[in-house]
Amino acid sequence: MKSETAPAAAAEQPPPELLGDLISPISGGRVPRHVAIIMDGNGRWAAQRGLPRAAGHRAGTENIRRVIERFTDHGVQYLTLYAFSTENWSRPEREVRALIRLLRYFIKRELDNFRKNNVRLRMLGHMETLPEWLQRQVADAIEVTSSNTGLVLNICFSYGGRDDIVMAVRQAARDELGPDDITEEAISARLSTGGSPDPDLLIRTGGEFRISNFLLWQAAYAELYFTDAYWPDFGREDIDIALADYGRRKRKFGGLLPEDIEALRTR
Ligand code: FPP
Repeated sequence: MKSETAPAAAAEQPPPELLGDLISPISGGRVPRHVAIIMDGNGRWAAQRGLPRAAGHRAGTENIRRVIERFTDHGVQYLTLYAFSTENWSRPEREVRALIRLLRYFIKRELDNFRKNNVRLRMLGHMETLPEWLQRQVADAIEVTSSNTGLVLNICFSYGGRDDIVMAVRQAARDELGPDDITEEAISARLSTGGSPDPDLLIRTGGEFRISNFLLWQAAYAELYFTDAYWPDFGREDIDIALADYGRRKRKFGGLLPEDIEALRTR
């Protein structure tokens, strides 16, 4: 999109913080600082095996550990997983209960690993919609891992991207921001991801091509990667392939690459 009167903020090149890719100690290639994943395909994975949907979600939960390990090995610093959307409450009660139980199981089972591997757990979404016993367990796990300095693991539960924006705007109103104080930075800081960099890479497993109300604001410039693999099958090799694909992307953030600018100068 071209504009005659470019806003002052639109410099020739993207701001340095947006160019902050890391170098993988495994592949030596560029890797994203922040990866976000829509973990889709649990139900179909289970159906393929003649199992109930809950078995697919359980296998999907088991997969999270190896995914964390592989992204950590590559040096990724933030991993955001979409575990339960605001819309998922409309699923059959039995499935909703299974997913809530899995959150409990996941936190209980993984807490030691988080401690050992220096993972900091954060939860994004409406924790108040969870049973009180689970809210306490979640709060404890967040507290226990809060001083860890390795991977930041964001689990999105009862999360919606539009809702995230509405909540941020409401907070801005509570903070009594005037119309001119409502800037992109002011909204970003009030989102549930406030303080984290935006995702650089958004992966969706399960063969669908949708964002499904995930990180709508934050993913404005994320590279999108879709794979047919069902989430429980999405393993180390798939991660390596996704990251290699990311390493080949040219990220321009609406601007031009330094080499393109150089080419224009010397033309
Ligand atoms: C989409 O697959 C997946 C979900 C709605 C839930 C994702 C949840 C997990 C991986 C496990 C829970 C994680 C935690 C941390 C508790 P789908 O059921 O829509 O699959 P389908 O499209 O094949 O039916």
